[in-house]
Amino acid sequence: MNLPEYVKIVDVGPRDGLQNHPETVPLATKIELVDRLTDAGIPVVEAGAFVSPKWVPQMADTADVMAGIKRKPGVSYPVLVPNLKGYEAAKAANVEEIAIFGAATEAFSQKNINCSISESLERFRPVAEAAINDGMKVRGYISCVLGCPYEGDVAPDAVAYVARELDRMGCYEISLGDTIGTGTPAKAQAMIEAVAKDIKVERLGAHFHDTYGQALANLLAVMQMGVAVIDTAVAGLGGCPYAKGASGNVATEDVVYMLNGLGIETGIDMDKLLAASRFISAAIHRAPASKVALAYKGADAA
Ligand code: HMG
Ligand code: MG
Repeated sequence: MNLPEYVKIVDVGPRDGLQNHPETVPLATKIELVDRLTDAGIPVVEAGAFVSPKWVPQMADTADVMAGIKRKPGVSYPVLVPNLKGYEAAKAANVEEIAIFGAATEAFSQKNINCSISESLERFRPVAEAAINDGMKVRGYISCVLGCPYEGDVAPDAVAYVARELDRMGCYEISLGDTIGTGTPAKAQAMIEAVAKDIKVERLGAHFHDTYGQALANLLAVMQMGVAVIDTAVAGLGGCPYAKGASGNVATEDVVYMLNGLGIETGIDMDKLLAASRFISAAIHRAPASKVALAYKGADAA
């Protein structure tokens, strides 16, 4: 198997995981979660989102999260930004990396950010420009790359089109979201193949939700094509407010366990990662969705 030697893990649990949690998660819990993840060696932790609090109330305290965390040198703490208003708030919070987020389907774009794909691209352009001028890094997301809750199948070319647009705006990395987790390995490979025609595969990230239990298989399939950036969520936290039935991102513990078994470097300490998983699971009173976390818990109990 042709696999990368190192995979960069982007833990999106504090944002993607908690954005959909039904009860308010205390600020101190969010801050401790981010700090525990970086202490475990996670190189990129998505810390929050500067979006409308009416749309996503769970992310309303992102400025306080950014002010409260211990910023570890060398670690990136990206936040989602949908428009210039969000950008100004991110800048005021001394954010160093933002993520703009579009979709491969019109219906999802409307439900998620209340505009069409082309309107969203027009909206992102000045945001990316301002961020780059201010010395920030810009990550790009595309949702529904392997299926849409409203439109069903998604053509790889539709994903490649949005990816090219985000690339032109200066995104250093493009994260490809299987928002509803319906993808399977050959479909995931076909999508990567289409996007990688225009953008180097090293600049693509896999952001796979595990709703149908396919995420690890899909990740192995795309790693064989050179993908070496994987978005995960500790404890498999989360879902998506605009994708009914979606479950969380593939659990960080499960991906790190697989990568360890493959001899792929991540720089992550599994014990500290499991401790972070137990911390957030206890804090929000939710059993981890991670098989690895459950297996270690079972072994400990025995
Ligand atoms: P809109 O209602 O069309 O916006 O929402 P608007 O410009 O008409 O403004 C409406 C109100 O929101 C105004 O306040 C604005 O000031 C305020 P009012 O005058 O009514 O009091 N507002 C804001 N407040 C704070 N921060 C802002 C902001 N912008 C406007 N940035 C908008 C459009 C994009 C704002 C809205 O739809 C929104 O916030 N959407 C975010 C949805 C979201 O966060 N979704 C989850 C993240 S995406 C995801 O999970 C997928 C991903 O994980 C990949 C994958 O898995 O596929 C990334
Ligand atoms: Mg997501």
